[in-house]
Amino acid sequence: AEVIIVRDPTEAGSVASSIFAQQITTNPATVLGLATGSTPLTTYAALAAAVTEGTIDVSGVRGFALDEYLGVPPEHPESYRSVITREVVEPLGLNPDQVWTPRGTGPDITQAGAEYEALIAEAGGIDLQILGIGSNGHVGFNEPGSSLTSTTRIKALAEQTRKDNARFFSSPEEVPTHCITQGLGTILRARQLLLLAFGANKAQAVAAALEGPVSSAVPGSVIQQHPRATVIIDEAAAAGLA
Ligand code: F6R
Repeated sequence: AEVIIVRDPTEAGSVASSIFAQQITTNPATVLGLATGSTPLTTYAALAAAVTEGTIDVSGVRGFALDEYLGVPPEHPESYRSVITREVVEPLGLNPDQVWTPRGTGPDITQAGAEYEALIAEAGGIDLQILGIGSNGHVGFNEPGSSLTSTTRIKALAEQTRKDNARFFSSPEEVPTHCITQGLGTILRARQLLLLAFGANKAQAVAAALEGPVSSAVPGSVIQQHPRATVIIDEAAAAGLA
């Protein structure tokens, strides 16, 4: 992967958003893979600014979220559906019907993963996938131990992830125990990957993902197997690199 070290998340957002802009200009019908969490927020904000300034036209853009909490209804403010609506769909002015999240509720929930894979395939696959990384090395919610060829499916959240995400809920007990996430195989099929990470809390995961062995113990290490991957990190997240 190409590694770009930036000063801060704001600079990362502007670098990432120019990669997005280039992709969208090349292919106005681009299919984006969308991460939630704190990491992509400066990228989404920079993209929204470019849309407002009229420098990119996102009217043909479609999107697929990486993951969703299991058992959290879409209208819950912390469902990833709500987060994607707030942070991406509304600020960029995307058509909400052209942005999908895996469903975390409803009938035959064990089928939801295969349904999502079918939707991605129907859209022609994901062109550009933005990723954050968990402090334990997860990407999407593929926790350590996830198969490198996995597709969208239900997974248990690691205790570390539930702790890391407790900030979004009113109490730690409220954090869901399970999720539905694109698999590592799904992520690897995206035609371009963009992984962002900020802060000392991510340094160990970044070093293991970029310089350790490719292994299901560090799901983010799949980035090494992708032919077109860019990593944008700040100095603190880069501190563990050789
Ligand atoms: C979010 C996701 C996760 C996050 C990761 C980092 O859709 O799939 O892998 O990217 O947990 O989260 P933040 O960015 O909040 O540090």
